[in-house]
Amino acid sequence: MVVPRPAQIEPSDDASFTLSPGARISVAGPAADGVARLLRAELATDCRRELAVVHEPPAFGDIAIVVADDEGPAGHREEGYTLEVAAEGVRIGAATAAGAFWGVQTLRQLVPASCADDPLTLDAVRITDHPRFGYRGAMLDVARHFFPVADVKRFIDAIVLLKVNHLHLHLTDDQGWRIHIDAWPRLTEHGGSTGSDGSRGGFYSKDDYRELVAYAADRHVTVVPEIDMPGHTNAALASYPELNRDGVAPALYTGSDVGFSTLLTGDGTTDRFVGDVLREVAELTPGPYLHIGGDECLSTDEDDFRSFVDRAAQLVAQTGKTPVGWHEMGRSDGLPEGTVGQYWSFRTPQADAAEEALSFVRRGGSVIMSPADVAYLDIVYEEGDSIGQDWADGPTSLRDAFEWDPARIVPGLGDAHILGVEAPLWTETVPTIEDAEEMVFPRLAAVAEIGWSPAPADTAEVRSARDIEDFTARLGALAEHWDALGTRYRRVDGVPWPQPVAG
Ligand code: ACM
Repeated sequence: MVVPRPAQIEPSDDASFTLSPGARISVAGPAADGVARLLRAELATDCRRELAVVHEPPAFGDIAIVVADDEGPAGHREEGYTLEVAAEGVRIGAATAAGAFWGVQTLRQLVPASCADDPLTLDAVRITDHPRFGYRGAMLDVARHFFPVADVKRFIDAIVLLKVNHLHLHLTDDQGWRIHIDAWPRLTEHGGSTGSDGSRGGFYSKDDYRELVAYAADRHVTVVPEIDMPGHTNAALASYPELNRDGVAPALYTGSDVGFSTLLTGDGTTDRFVGDVLREVAELTPGPYLHIGGDECLSTDEDDFRSFVDRAAQLVAQTGKTPVGWHEMGRSDGLPEGTVGQYWSFRTPQADAAEEALSFVRRGGSVIMSPADVAYLDIVYEEGDSIGQDWADGPTSLRDAFEWDPARIVPGLGDAHILGVEAPLWTETVPTIEDAEEMVFPRLAAVAEIGWSPAPADTAEVRSARDIEDFTARLGALAEHWDALGTRYRRVDGVPWPQPVAG
């Protein structure tokens, strides 16, 4: 009963495992230490059990974490793991700390959510598991509504249970600039002071941001920062008149329109601005990717748009990072080799989206699939919802979010060229982290499963190939953990949800 569905589960009739009061976490391999510490903390939170971590071979009834080169499923060393549950003990084996950490997330879901009150007993099983795609992402738009560090940590805690390993932070937009830049301090002082619907705003200091990135990295999550350019820039334009075409700073913006703002392109000051920002953000970024947006630049002249994104992507490449951009950037033919595109058109590609996505692959890059009509988490679940938008062929049901396949969208774009999948949450209408969670869960569980679990056998007919009943049964079990952890979720119809918790 695990989400995402593991690649291989062999149930067993052997005797079950019971966690005894003297059980320990036995660690082998230096890379296993951090994972053991997190498992210890998670069992303490989830089950109120305090297990000692020991560096010695497991005794009967221990939980062993072994990270060594010859562990983990063959051919899947990066993130694969094995998990064995038997009367003698539990054993997680992986070639990397990341693999072991995902094994721990599976173990957390196998452990009964009631483990704080009841004996902790697990059926014997052997799981061999690895992801379909290396990039499984969630995006949080902290620009429209700002979410402080504690909220983002809470979000990271919730996504790792689903083995989501990339957190894309949409850090800048018309409504707010959320990351401090030393060379351009008014971006946050002024441009970060408000948000959508007149909300209070806020921003991350460099130390805040480092803290977030480190917290994510400890949990094997890579933060992908996005500085959206040259459109979606009113907050920057309001902060510095010299970035505007007419040299006049506009007022701060708290509405929900898109496409009206653009940086002054082809200009030395803008060039210096873009270089400074990308260099400072790259310095804060241990992960490989730096996202430069490029979507909905409806107020930028087409030739200027192309030369702007080429130049910005080259500046990213000079910092040693891989540029990422929304699929519109594929219109340009001067992007550096290996630039990654993010597809956000529909399951049936609209206008030139398919061609634009493919152009990243032609230049040696790959594509992240975020089809808006199924993977956008801000779209309403049902007509009449008070939070959410309905433009992307909405409403988007849980079933919609589950019954699609990334390799069946753009002809010619198969698994080999797909970096992975990502579900974005745009927050124009989402003011709090509790509201955000209700938009994200359970649909992110569907997208996470698409990113992790093996492709359906018959991808020609994706709707019938994915087993929604099996998924919703597992989701019902997962929700017991969400309840225990205090993660909010939308109780959509068609899922055997646990009894509502009091309060
Ligand atoms: C987008 O939804 N504008 C990427």
